[in-house]
Amino acid sequence: MSLAIELSSVSFAYRAGHHVLEGVDLRIGEGAFVAIAGPNGGGKTTLVRIILGLERPSEGTASLYGEPAHRFSRRRTLGYLAQRSELGGDAPATVREVVSAGRLAAGGLLGPLRRRDRELVTEAIERVGLGDFADTPVQTLSGGMQQRAFIAKALAGEPSILVLDEPTTGVDAESQESLASLLARLHSELGATILYVSHEFGAVEQFVERLVLVRRTIVFDGPPQALPGVWHDPSHAHA
Ligand SMILES: Nc1ncnc2c1ncn2[C@@H]1O[C@H](COP(=O)(O)OP(=O)(O)O)[C@@H](O)[C@H]1O
Ligand SMILES: [Mg+2]
Repeated sequence: MSLAIELSSVSFAYRAGHHVLEGVDLRIGEGAFVAIAGPNGGGKTTLVRIILGLERPSEGTASLYGEPAHRFSRRRTLGYLAQRSELGGDAPATVREVVSAGRLAAGGLLGPLRRRDRELVTEAIERVGLGDFADTPVQTLSGGMQQRAFIAKALAGEPSILVLDEPTTGVDAESQESLASLLARLHSELGATILYVSHEFGAVEQFVERLVLVRRTIVFDGPPQALPGVWHDPSHAHA
């Protein structure tokens, strides 16, 4: 299995002397489906921003497919659903318009989408089960459906690595479950490397092969079934 992501001895500080990550070693193989969990403020978002090359480690190295993450040559193959993704501007964008923006970003295109781009947009909308809502304004959809529209936006770029940061924020429990099973299905169909980042991993626990708990450093890395009971305790998980 080839290595998609590799962090070696990564530390990170937003302000000198205040490390939010310290001594992080992480290797993720191509095609893995991994949950990254841990308490709020534990460093999850910072960690994935380093993985994606959006921040550079203060110490240590971050690589994507063997290249330095911040200079990765195939940036368009990275799909990122940022924490608290919101609709840009106040235009009442439809699902198709939102998803098309993902295709524009991927192709670096200016001007109209080509036929293949339009096909990929339609395919992504169907994959997330929003086929009947393609021309519906996203703002009128439920939280869970909006998140699926944002996932379709990321999928339209045909990512080889898909990072979803807190994708279930503001989504009811039932939609969390269906989002998790949607991701599991996409993972098996597309073979993409998926990182599911959340302070709450219950919804994906049954689907992921690996759980990485981040609390300034990696405090657990293994199959969710091997997680010591103490980490299930809310006073630790959400401290
Ligand atoms: N842009 C920033 N500037 C300064 N501090 C930040 C910034 N982003 C996050 N932090 C701090 O870094 C720590 C880790 O934050 P974050 O990576 O967002 O954790 P998580 O995603 O697990 O909640 C927190 O203490 C947070 O306040
Ligand atoms: Mg976060």
